[in-house]
Amino acid sequence: MKKIPKILLRKVILFTLFIFFINSCINNSENSDKTKMEKNKISINKENFGKYDGKNVYLYTLTNSNGLIAKITNYGAIVTSLIVPDKQGNFDDIVLGYDNLEDYIKDSPYFGAIVGRYGNRIAKGKFILDDKEYTLAVNNGNNHLHGGIKGFDKVVWDAEEIDNKEGVGLKLKYISKDGEEGYPGNLEVTVTYTLTNNNELKISYEAVTDKPTPVNITHHSYFNLAGAGKEDILNHELMIDADKYTVVDKELIPTAELRDVKDTPMDFTSPESIGSRIAAVEGGYDHNYVLNNNGKFAKVVEVIEPQSGRLMEVYTSEPGIQFYSGNFLDGSNIGKNGKKYNKYYGFCLETQHFPDSPNQPSFPSTILKPGEKYGYTTVYKFLL
Ligand code: GLA
Repeated sequence: MKKIPKILLRKVILFTLFIFFINSCINNSENSDKTKMEKNKISINKENFGKYDGKNVYLYTLTNSNGLIAKITNYGAIVTSLIVPDKQGNFDDIVLGYDNLEDYIKDSPYFGAIVGRYGNRIAKGKFILDDKEYTLAVNNGNNHLHGGIKGFDKVVWDAEEIDNKEGVGLKLKYISKDGEEGYPGNLEVTVTYTLTNNNELKISYEAVTDKPTPVNITHHSYFNLAGAGKEDILNHELMIDADKYTVVDKELIPTAELRDVKDTPMDFTSPESIGSRIAAVEGGYDHNYVLNNNGKFAKVVEVIEPQSGRLMEVYTSEPGIQFYSGNFLDGSNIGKNGKKYNKYYGFCLETQHFPDSPNQPSFPSTILKPGEKYGYTTVYKFLL
């Protein structure tokens, strides 16, 4: 047998080593891409968002196992972005908001915020509790709205990151002092947001007090399932499982009447587009629906945007939901990526007790007493 020349043998070995090296490089870069992808999934990232009231404000980016993203800041416990896929798998931000803290501080119609101590209106900012009259801050015409001049949407919350089997989240705490905005009692509030791996934004509300006080905390995201700032929400098809709503006067204060929705433009018991009858509703939709859930945690809303195919369900045990069609948006709020938010560009579904309950003996009570625990959960679930 002929001997292989040494030079050729060396070339073969070098060539094999070279091929081996190239291969391992390709594998490595594939692996690092994989780790990047895995890192993109199920994670919490914290970055500075500025300062307010001498406190640090952060922006937390939560990503679930399917790549859905919720961005939340501890200023106002605000959800600044919610990025979910459409039927083609394209991800888009479906809540209205701003790019930076300064804009939220300057002027925000409660974009994405936690609203309290009392969500919605209390007539004339007055109520009587245990024979004593309380006077609250008046910030909406003659009335008190969404907790007053500096409500829970305008304070810095303490935040703690959560990472468990269910998903990733943020536990936000705030102590509302006795007398704040006129309310009695020190109220310790905890709001927990979880972005679950089941594509839900779950919000759990808890509170305890040291004096009797009205409490009605809610969430104020403006949704647009077509994508924030693209177009109005009038083509969304909405179902609200409610046979009645609370009738309001010109100042949006309930008259105490619960009226049937049947045969009126208020009826969303079967899916209807938001725009089909809005012209017949003075001022647009801004009403509290009396839910059919009998105080049990249940699906109360389904809303679909036909073009993108995005579908959102809302679950709660609260007796009411404020359906607000973004009537006061007027293009003056320039939102994320310079987009203008015109009238009807977002809708809110604020799970709650009924507006003005402290002055309405026939409505379910909103008074929390020392020793009691305030608590409920609302879920916004995204499906295709
Ligand atoms: C709620 C109220 C509305 C309006 C918005 C915020 O939905 O019911 O009337 O105040 O908040 O602009």
